[in-house]
Amino acid sequence: MTQAEHEWVELIALDELPTDGTGRALELAGEQLAVFLHEGEVRVLGGVCPHQGALLGDGVISRGEVTCPFHGWHFDLTTGASGDGLEECVPVHEARVSDSGVVEVLAPPKSA
Ligand code: FES
Repeated sequence: MTQAEHEWVELIALDELPTDGTGRALELAGEQLAVFLHEGEVRVLGGVCPHQGALLGDGVISRGEVTCPFHGWHFDLTTGASGDGLEECVPVHEARVSDSGVVEVLAPPKSA
């Protein structure tokens, strides 16, 4: 039996994140992520909109939600839940900023 472990993975320098309400679409190990700096905190969501696959990192933040750039669905930056009352949501990834100013995300455990 293999013990699965989480690990922190470097994503992007904190000072490379936009501060104008836009985000960054990044890929980590084949998974799209949407990364935002909102009210001084880093938020990392699954980067693909469950509607028709737009990159949420290309969206814009308003009132704690990201607005999908294609058709305007909204997702909460903290919970990933739909702000439109829909069942669809996006995953939220735990993130932190290292002492050297690099955004790190807690990667899912590798399956054995
Ligand atoms: S692809 Fe995101 S709302 Fe349509």
